[in-house]
Amino acid sequence: MKPFEARIERAMANALHMAGADLCPSRLAAAVEYAVLPGGARIRPTLCLSVAAACGDPRSDLADAAAVSLELVHSASLVHDDLPCFDDADIRRGKPTVHRAFSQQVAVLAGDSLIVLAFDVLARAAVNDSATGIAMIRALTQGTGMHGGICAGQGWESEPDIDLSAYHRAKTGALFVAATAMGALAAGQAPRPWEDVGAKLGEAFQIADDMSDVTGDAAALGKPTDQDGRHHRPNAVSRLGVHGARQRFDDLIDSAIAAIPPCGGQREFADMVRGYAQRLGVPGHRADNGVRAPGQ
Ligand code: IPE
Ligand code: IPE
Ligand code: MG
Ligand code: MG
Repeated sequence: MKPFEARIERAMANALHMAGADLCPSRLAAAVEYAVLPGGARIRPTLCLSVAAACGDPRSDLADAAAVSLELVHSASLVHDDLPCFDDADIRRGKPTVHRAFSQQVAVLAGDSLIVLAFDVLARAAVNDSATGIAMIRALTQGTGMHGGICAGQGWESEPDIDLSAYHRAKTGALFVAATAMGALAAGQAPRPWEDVGAKLGEAFQIADDMSDVTGDAAALGKPTDQDGRHHRPNAVSRLGVHGARQRFDDLIDSAIAAIPPCGGQREFADMVRGYAQRLGVPGHRADNGVRAPGQ
């Protein structure tokens, strides 16, 4: 079992239940659920809960809300990323993408609804600790928005010149920064030192994803490969070569581990990062990404 798997799935199911799907248009409600269940690797909530645990996890209710909100925003970003106007992908997490299974209209609305639900989860958590709740909401807006968050990252694709590192930091790194910062905030700790860890892990993660896009196996990944080549997106392998990308990945993981702030669970957190990195460093063999190849 993946770390925190049962806790994350329980918290996700609760959030969906609270969303009041029975009152929504039924296809929209079905699309929202389809986008988050079953999940993928759940790496962002795992990271968030790992930071909270490393800091003692004194407020598991706040950590759960943070973890769920991150995964809801991430799932929304995948729904939108797969649309024909972005990456035009047919398969995600081993099944038809939301716009293929429902329609483009429903997919746009499902993504929007997931983002709104993410912030609603945090607002509800803020009732008992407004200062922490507001700080977590701000951390998630930074990971999501147009000033360096996912929107900025996807926005870079419409620019004539794209800096690979800035692109990766925004489209993927920013939500990892939010994940580590929110884990620290939920545990009552300063987010700043953990943000560095998240930034390095997020950039490394996107490099691994770029390597998978070039050398991975679509069935094992549960999503199409060669997407970056097809859409002329910057890719770490096309920019740095396979060896260069791998080197950059390893350097980022090493510096992420070196940046872990002193805390009770410092060693366990470092071991968790090493374990993930080992699996991610082998493109196409991301054994614990939660995706089963058809027929498996
Ligand atoms: C895919 O993220 C999008 C990127 C930022 C690379 P994940 O690889 O975490 O996707 P899931 O959640 O496991 O499906
Ligand atoms: C996704 O980047 C980043 C998002 C904000 C969704 P990619 O387009 O490289 O991710 P995949 O490969 O489709 O999962
Ligand atoms: Mg994309
Ligand atoms: Mg894509």
